[in-house]
Amino acid sequence: MNKPGTNSPRPDKLGVGVIGANRWAQSAHLPAFAAHERVDLVAICDVLPERARAMQAQFGAAKVYFDHRELLADPRIQAVDVCTPTQTHLALSLDAIAAGKHVLCEKPLHTQAGPAFAAAAAAAEKGVRTKLGFTFRYSPAIRQIKRWIADGVLGDIFHIHGFEQNSQFLDPDFPLRQLAPDAPRDRLVPASIIGYGSHLLDLMRWLGGEFQSVAATMRNFVPERQVLGMSGRQKIQVEDATVALVEFASGAQGLVQSSYIAVGNYPGVEIRVYGSKGAAIARLITEGGIAETLKRASAEAVEFKDVILGPEHYPKGTTLSTPWPELYYRNLIRHFVDEILEDKAQECTFYDGAKSQQIVDAIIAAHAERRWIRLPDGAA
Ligand SMILES: NC(=O)c1ccc[n+]([C@@H]2O[C@H](COP(=O)([O-])OP(=O)(O)OC[C@H]3O[C@@H](n4cnc5c(N)ncnc54)[C@H](O)[C@@H]3O)[C@@H](O)[C@H]2O)c1
Repeated sequence: MNKPGTNSPRPDKLGVGVIGANRWAQSAHLPAFAAHERVDLVAICDVLPERARAMQAQFGAAKVYFDHRELLADPRIQAVDVCTPTQTHLALSLDAIAAGKHVLCEKPLHTQAGPAFAAAAAAAEKGVRTKLGFTFRYSPAIRQIKRWIADGVLGDIFHIHGFEQNSQFLDPDFPLRQLAPDAPRDRLVPASIIGYGSHLLDLMRWLGGEFQSVAATMRNFVPERQVLGMSGRQKIQVEDATVALVEFASGAQGLVQSSYIAVGNYPGVEIRVYGSKGAAIARLITEGGIAETLKRASAEAVEFKDVILGPEHYPKGTTLSTPWPELYYRNLIRHFVDEILEDKAQECTFYDGAKSQQIVDAIIAAHAERRWIRLPDGAA
């Protein structure tokens, strides 16, 4: 295998195996691998044989497996994609790392930061690449804001505000997915801040640097709801929404809201950055058939104006009218594959996933203890 930092010849194509072949794999991961001209989709694995076979036929994989260990033993596979339920992410990723495969894993890697940091260290030790499925880092609008910050266009950054608000689980009879079967019934169960907030916190950290301290309030708004795999409405105090205040190590201020009971379309991500020279707002909210909008203002001309990015900002064959899961994931997978094949610096790694989880943990502690929580180091 071509490991980062070695002088071995670079292969033309990357052999990929995908583990987990249901809804999200079908709408985001598999179309993205199928569209990349330098990917050889070697195998699809699912514990449900009929699902694996159907996806093999649809996306043209050479093999199917029903046990991930068989997929990991396939020497044609250099990179593994873990797109299974959350509680399986860490174990499958660690097995893939041990087998010497590069790994893309859906978020969250784990619902505690410690094991996620350990997985990042294991990958570094083994010399394999990792990427975490933080979809919204691969929004063309968000990447443009990142460039504006790096190039100094926005000046010194004062405020970074992040929202992930949609009404996916406003209806108590629409079954909630992200809940462990053994979730406690006598206390608040963090949910929106883990499922959605982890994306948002990663974006804010990517744009604004390390978090120094957080204060937060979390609440359950829908007292009884249907939960996938359980029959009838359940009295579980699911955390439907969180608001947090952030002090960045740089001195910038931030505001966070994650909510899946706030009326609005999916995915409902909005990032606002305000600096000494200008400001930018990216809205990743599907409206009028358009996946996202980007606006910018400057200190001299304070009215926000639309910014239209050129086609070079979009994966080949996509436009702003491409459904967001495919648009962003094609970009994410393009980066994952190119970083490996071209030995480029990696970004959005398991380490970043662990850092995001650490902030989630601090927000949960800040709510529980009703006080500001300082992050362990406040530095990279
Ligand atoms: N990044 C994003 O924006 C985003 C969006 C949606 C979903 N997700 C995440 O993607 C993941 C998959 O989502 P989904 O809705 O498709 O989940 P799902 O539960 O519907 O499907 C998971 C699939 O994995 C299979 N599976 C389970 N354990 C397996 C194992 N050990 N080996 C092989 N196959 C196994 C199941 O049979 C199923 O087909 C979840 O972690 C979810 O949180 C991320």
